[in-house]
Amino acid sequence: MKQLQERDLKHIWHPCSQMKDYETFPPIVIKKGEGVFLEDMNGKKYLDAVSSWWVNMFGHSNQRINDALYRQANKLEHAIFANFSHEPAIELCEKILEVSPKGLSKIFFGDNGSSAVEIALKLSFQYHQQIGKSKKTRFVALTDAYHGETIGALSVSGCELYNKIFKPLMFDVIRPTGPDCFRCPYNKDRKHCDAECFEHMEKAIISDHEEISAVIIEPLLQCAAGMKMYSPIYLKKLREICDKYDINLIADEIAAGFGRTGKMFACEYAEITPDFMCVSKGLTAGYLPLSLVIMKDKIYDAFYDDYTTLKSFLHSHSYTGNPLGCAVAVETLNIFKDEDIINKNIEKARYIEKSVLEKIKDIPYVGEYRQLGMVGAIELVKDQESKEPFDWKDRVGYQIYKIALEKGVLLRPLGNIIYFMPPYVITKKEIDFMTDVAIDSIKEYFKL
Ligand SMILES: Cc1ncc(COP(=O)(O)O)c(C=O)c1O
Repeated sequence: MKQLQERDLKHIWHPCSQMKDYETFPPIVIKKGEGVFLEDMNGKKYLDAVSSWWVNMFGHSNQRINDALYRQANKLEHAIFANFSHEPAIELCEKILEVSPKGLSKIFFGDNGSSAVEIALKLSFQYHQQIGKSKKTRFVALTDAYHGETIGALSVSGCELYNKIFKPLMFDVIRPTGPDCFRCPYNKDRKHCDAECFEHMEKAIISDHEEISAVIIEPLLQCAAGMKMYSPIYLKKLREICDKYDINLIADEIAAGFGRTGKMFACEYAEITPDFMCVSKGLTAGYLPLSLVIMKDKIYDAFYDDYTTLKSFLHSHSYTGNPLGCAVAVETLNIFKDEDIINKNIEKARYIEKSVLEKIKDIPYVGEYRQLGMVGAIELVKDQESKEPFDWKDRVGYQIYKIALEKGVLLRPLGNIIYFMPPYVITKKEIDFMTDVAIDSIKEYFKL
């Protein structure tokens, strides 16, 4: 492994990393994956508790998906998607619309989450230009939002850690304060939430609605913000006000979609249909980069005209509609159906919750444990009473991450939030191992 690590560090710049860290903590070179485990060149196994950045659904090297990919690779690897089409793309669209919120009917393809966000923003902007609402040029997004790394997606993102330095390049976004249930200033006992925090969004929309093209939001779960979870009431109110002021609602289901929150899409909790729904990550069960922007007819119709009116959406990516990705996505949806994944996850989610709650009782640094479906998060704080967070420079999460890796679990915390988002094939025994290691690592770090 050492040799490969040296060769890696000669040329490779790893994502979301300070490469200097790799001097003392070189990259773990993975030889193979099986189920919830990744295995390195020395044969050491790591339980992938974060589904390799929230993409993996049915385990690494899943036989059904491997076979679907192999079958497709032997037929067609890629073809231009302008004026051409293929069965995997057609089948994928039919299948995904069966499980999407009612009222969504047209689909544009991208090749990763950020590109789906760019597409939705551009479509919303152009839509309003073409229906005679040319003043609607601005976007609304929440504090702590995360929508990707390309300049448009970064502009709507609210995590300063990622976008502060790029401010001069980004477009101006209206940014109301988002929900913060753990430190909720409205309901200290947190028993009677009516999404009072929506007042910030309401105020922003009432004040600027004539200029607003769309609100983009991560439904119910702000992952990169630290697995922040909030009430469906917020989404219901948002849908209502967007309807009232002719504002598009873009649901970024890139991380929350495909069963992570306990339903196929998080929007289902609020029984709303967004105007655009962006999906990626779990779409291909962690196999290939692919994304979709699923939208209502009214958007598509506003672009449908003679070519010379210049109403076309002249956006493309070379790998748009890649058949390998589509075939894998079709098989992913087949697995959801054949194996009744959403219902099976209910029991697994309960087991994760029980397993964590039993073990964290005596840790004085646990601010809260929150869970939504197959996502569980422990927020560590300096002081339980005041909820004072640790200084990010202490890198508490990073130290715990390193301890847990030694013990065979890949956690990759978000700051001081240690979270679990495992592949759905995880067994009860593996859940116990994952939570044991996480809690032991926390205790070891705090010398408890
Ligand atoms: C909610 C959300 N939107 C967009 C993205 C960007 O997706 P990608 O990393 O595929 O560009 C992410 C990635 O984590 C995400 O969590």
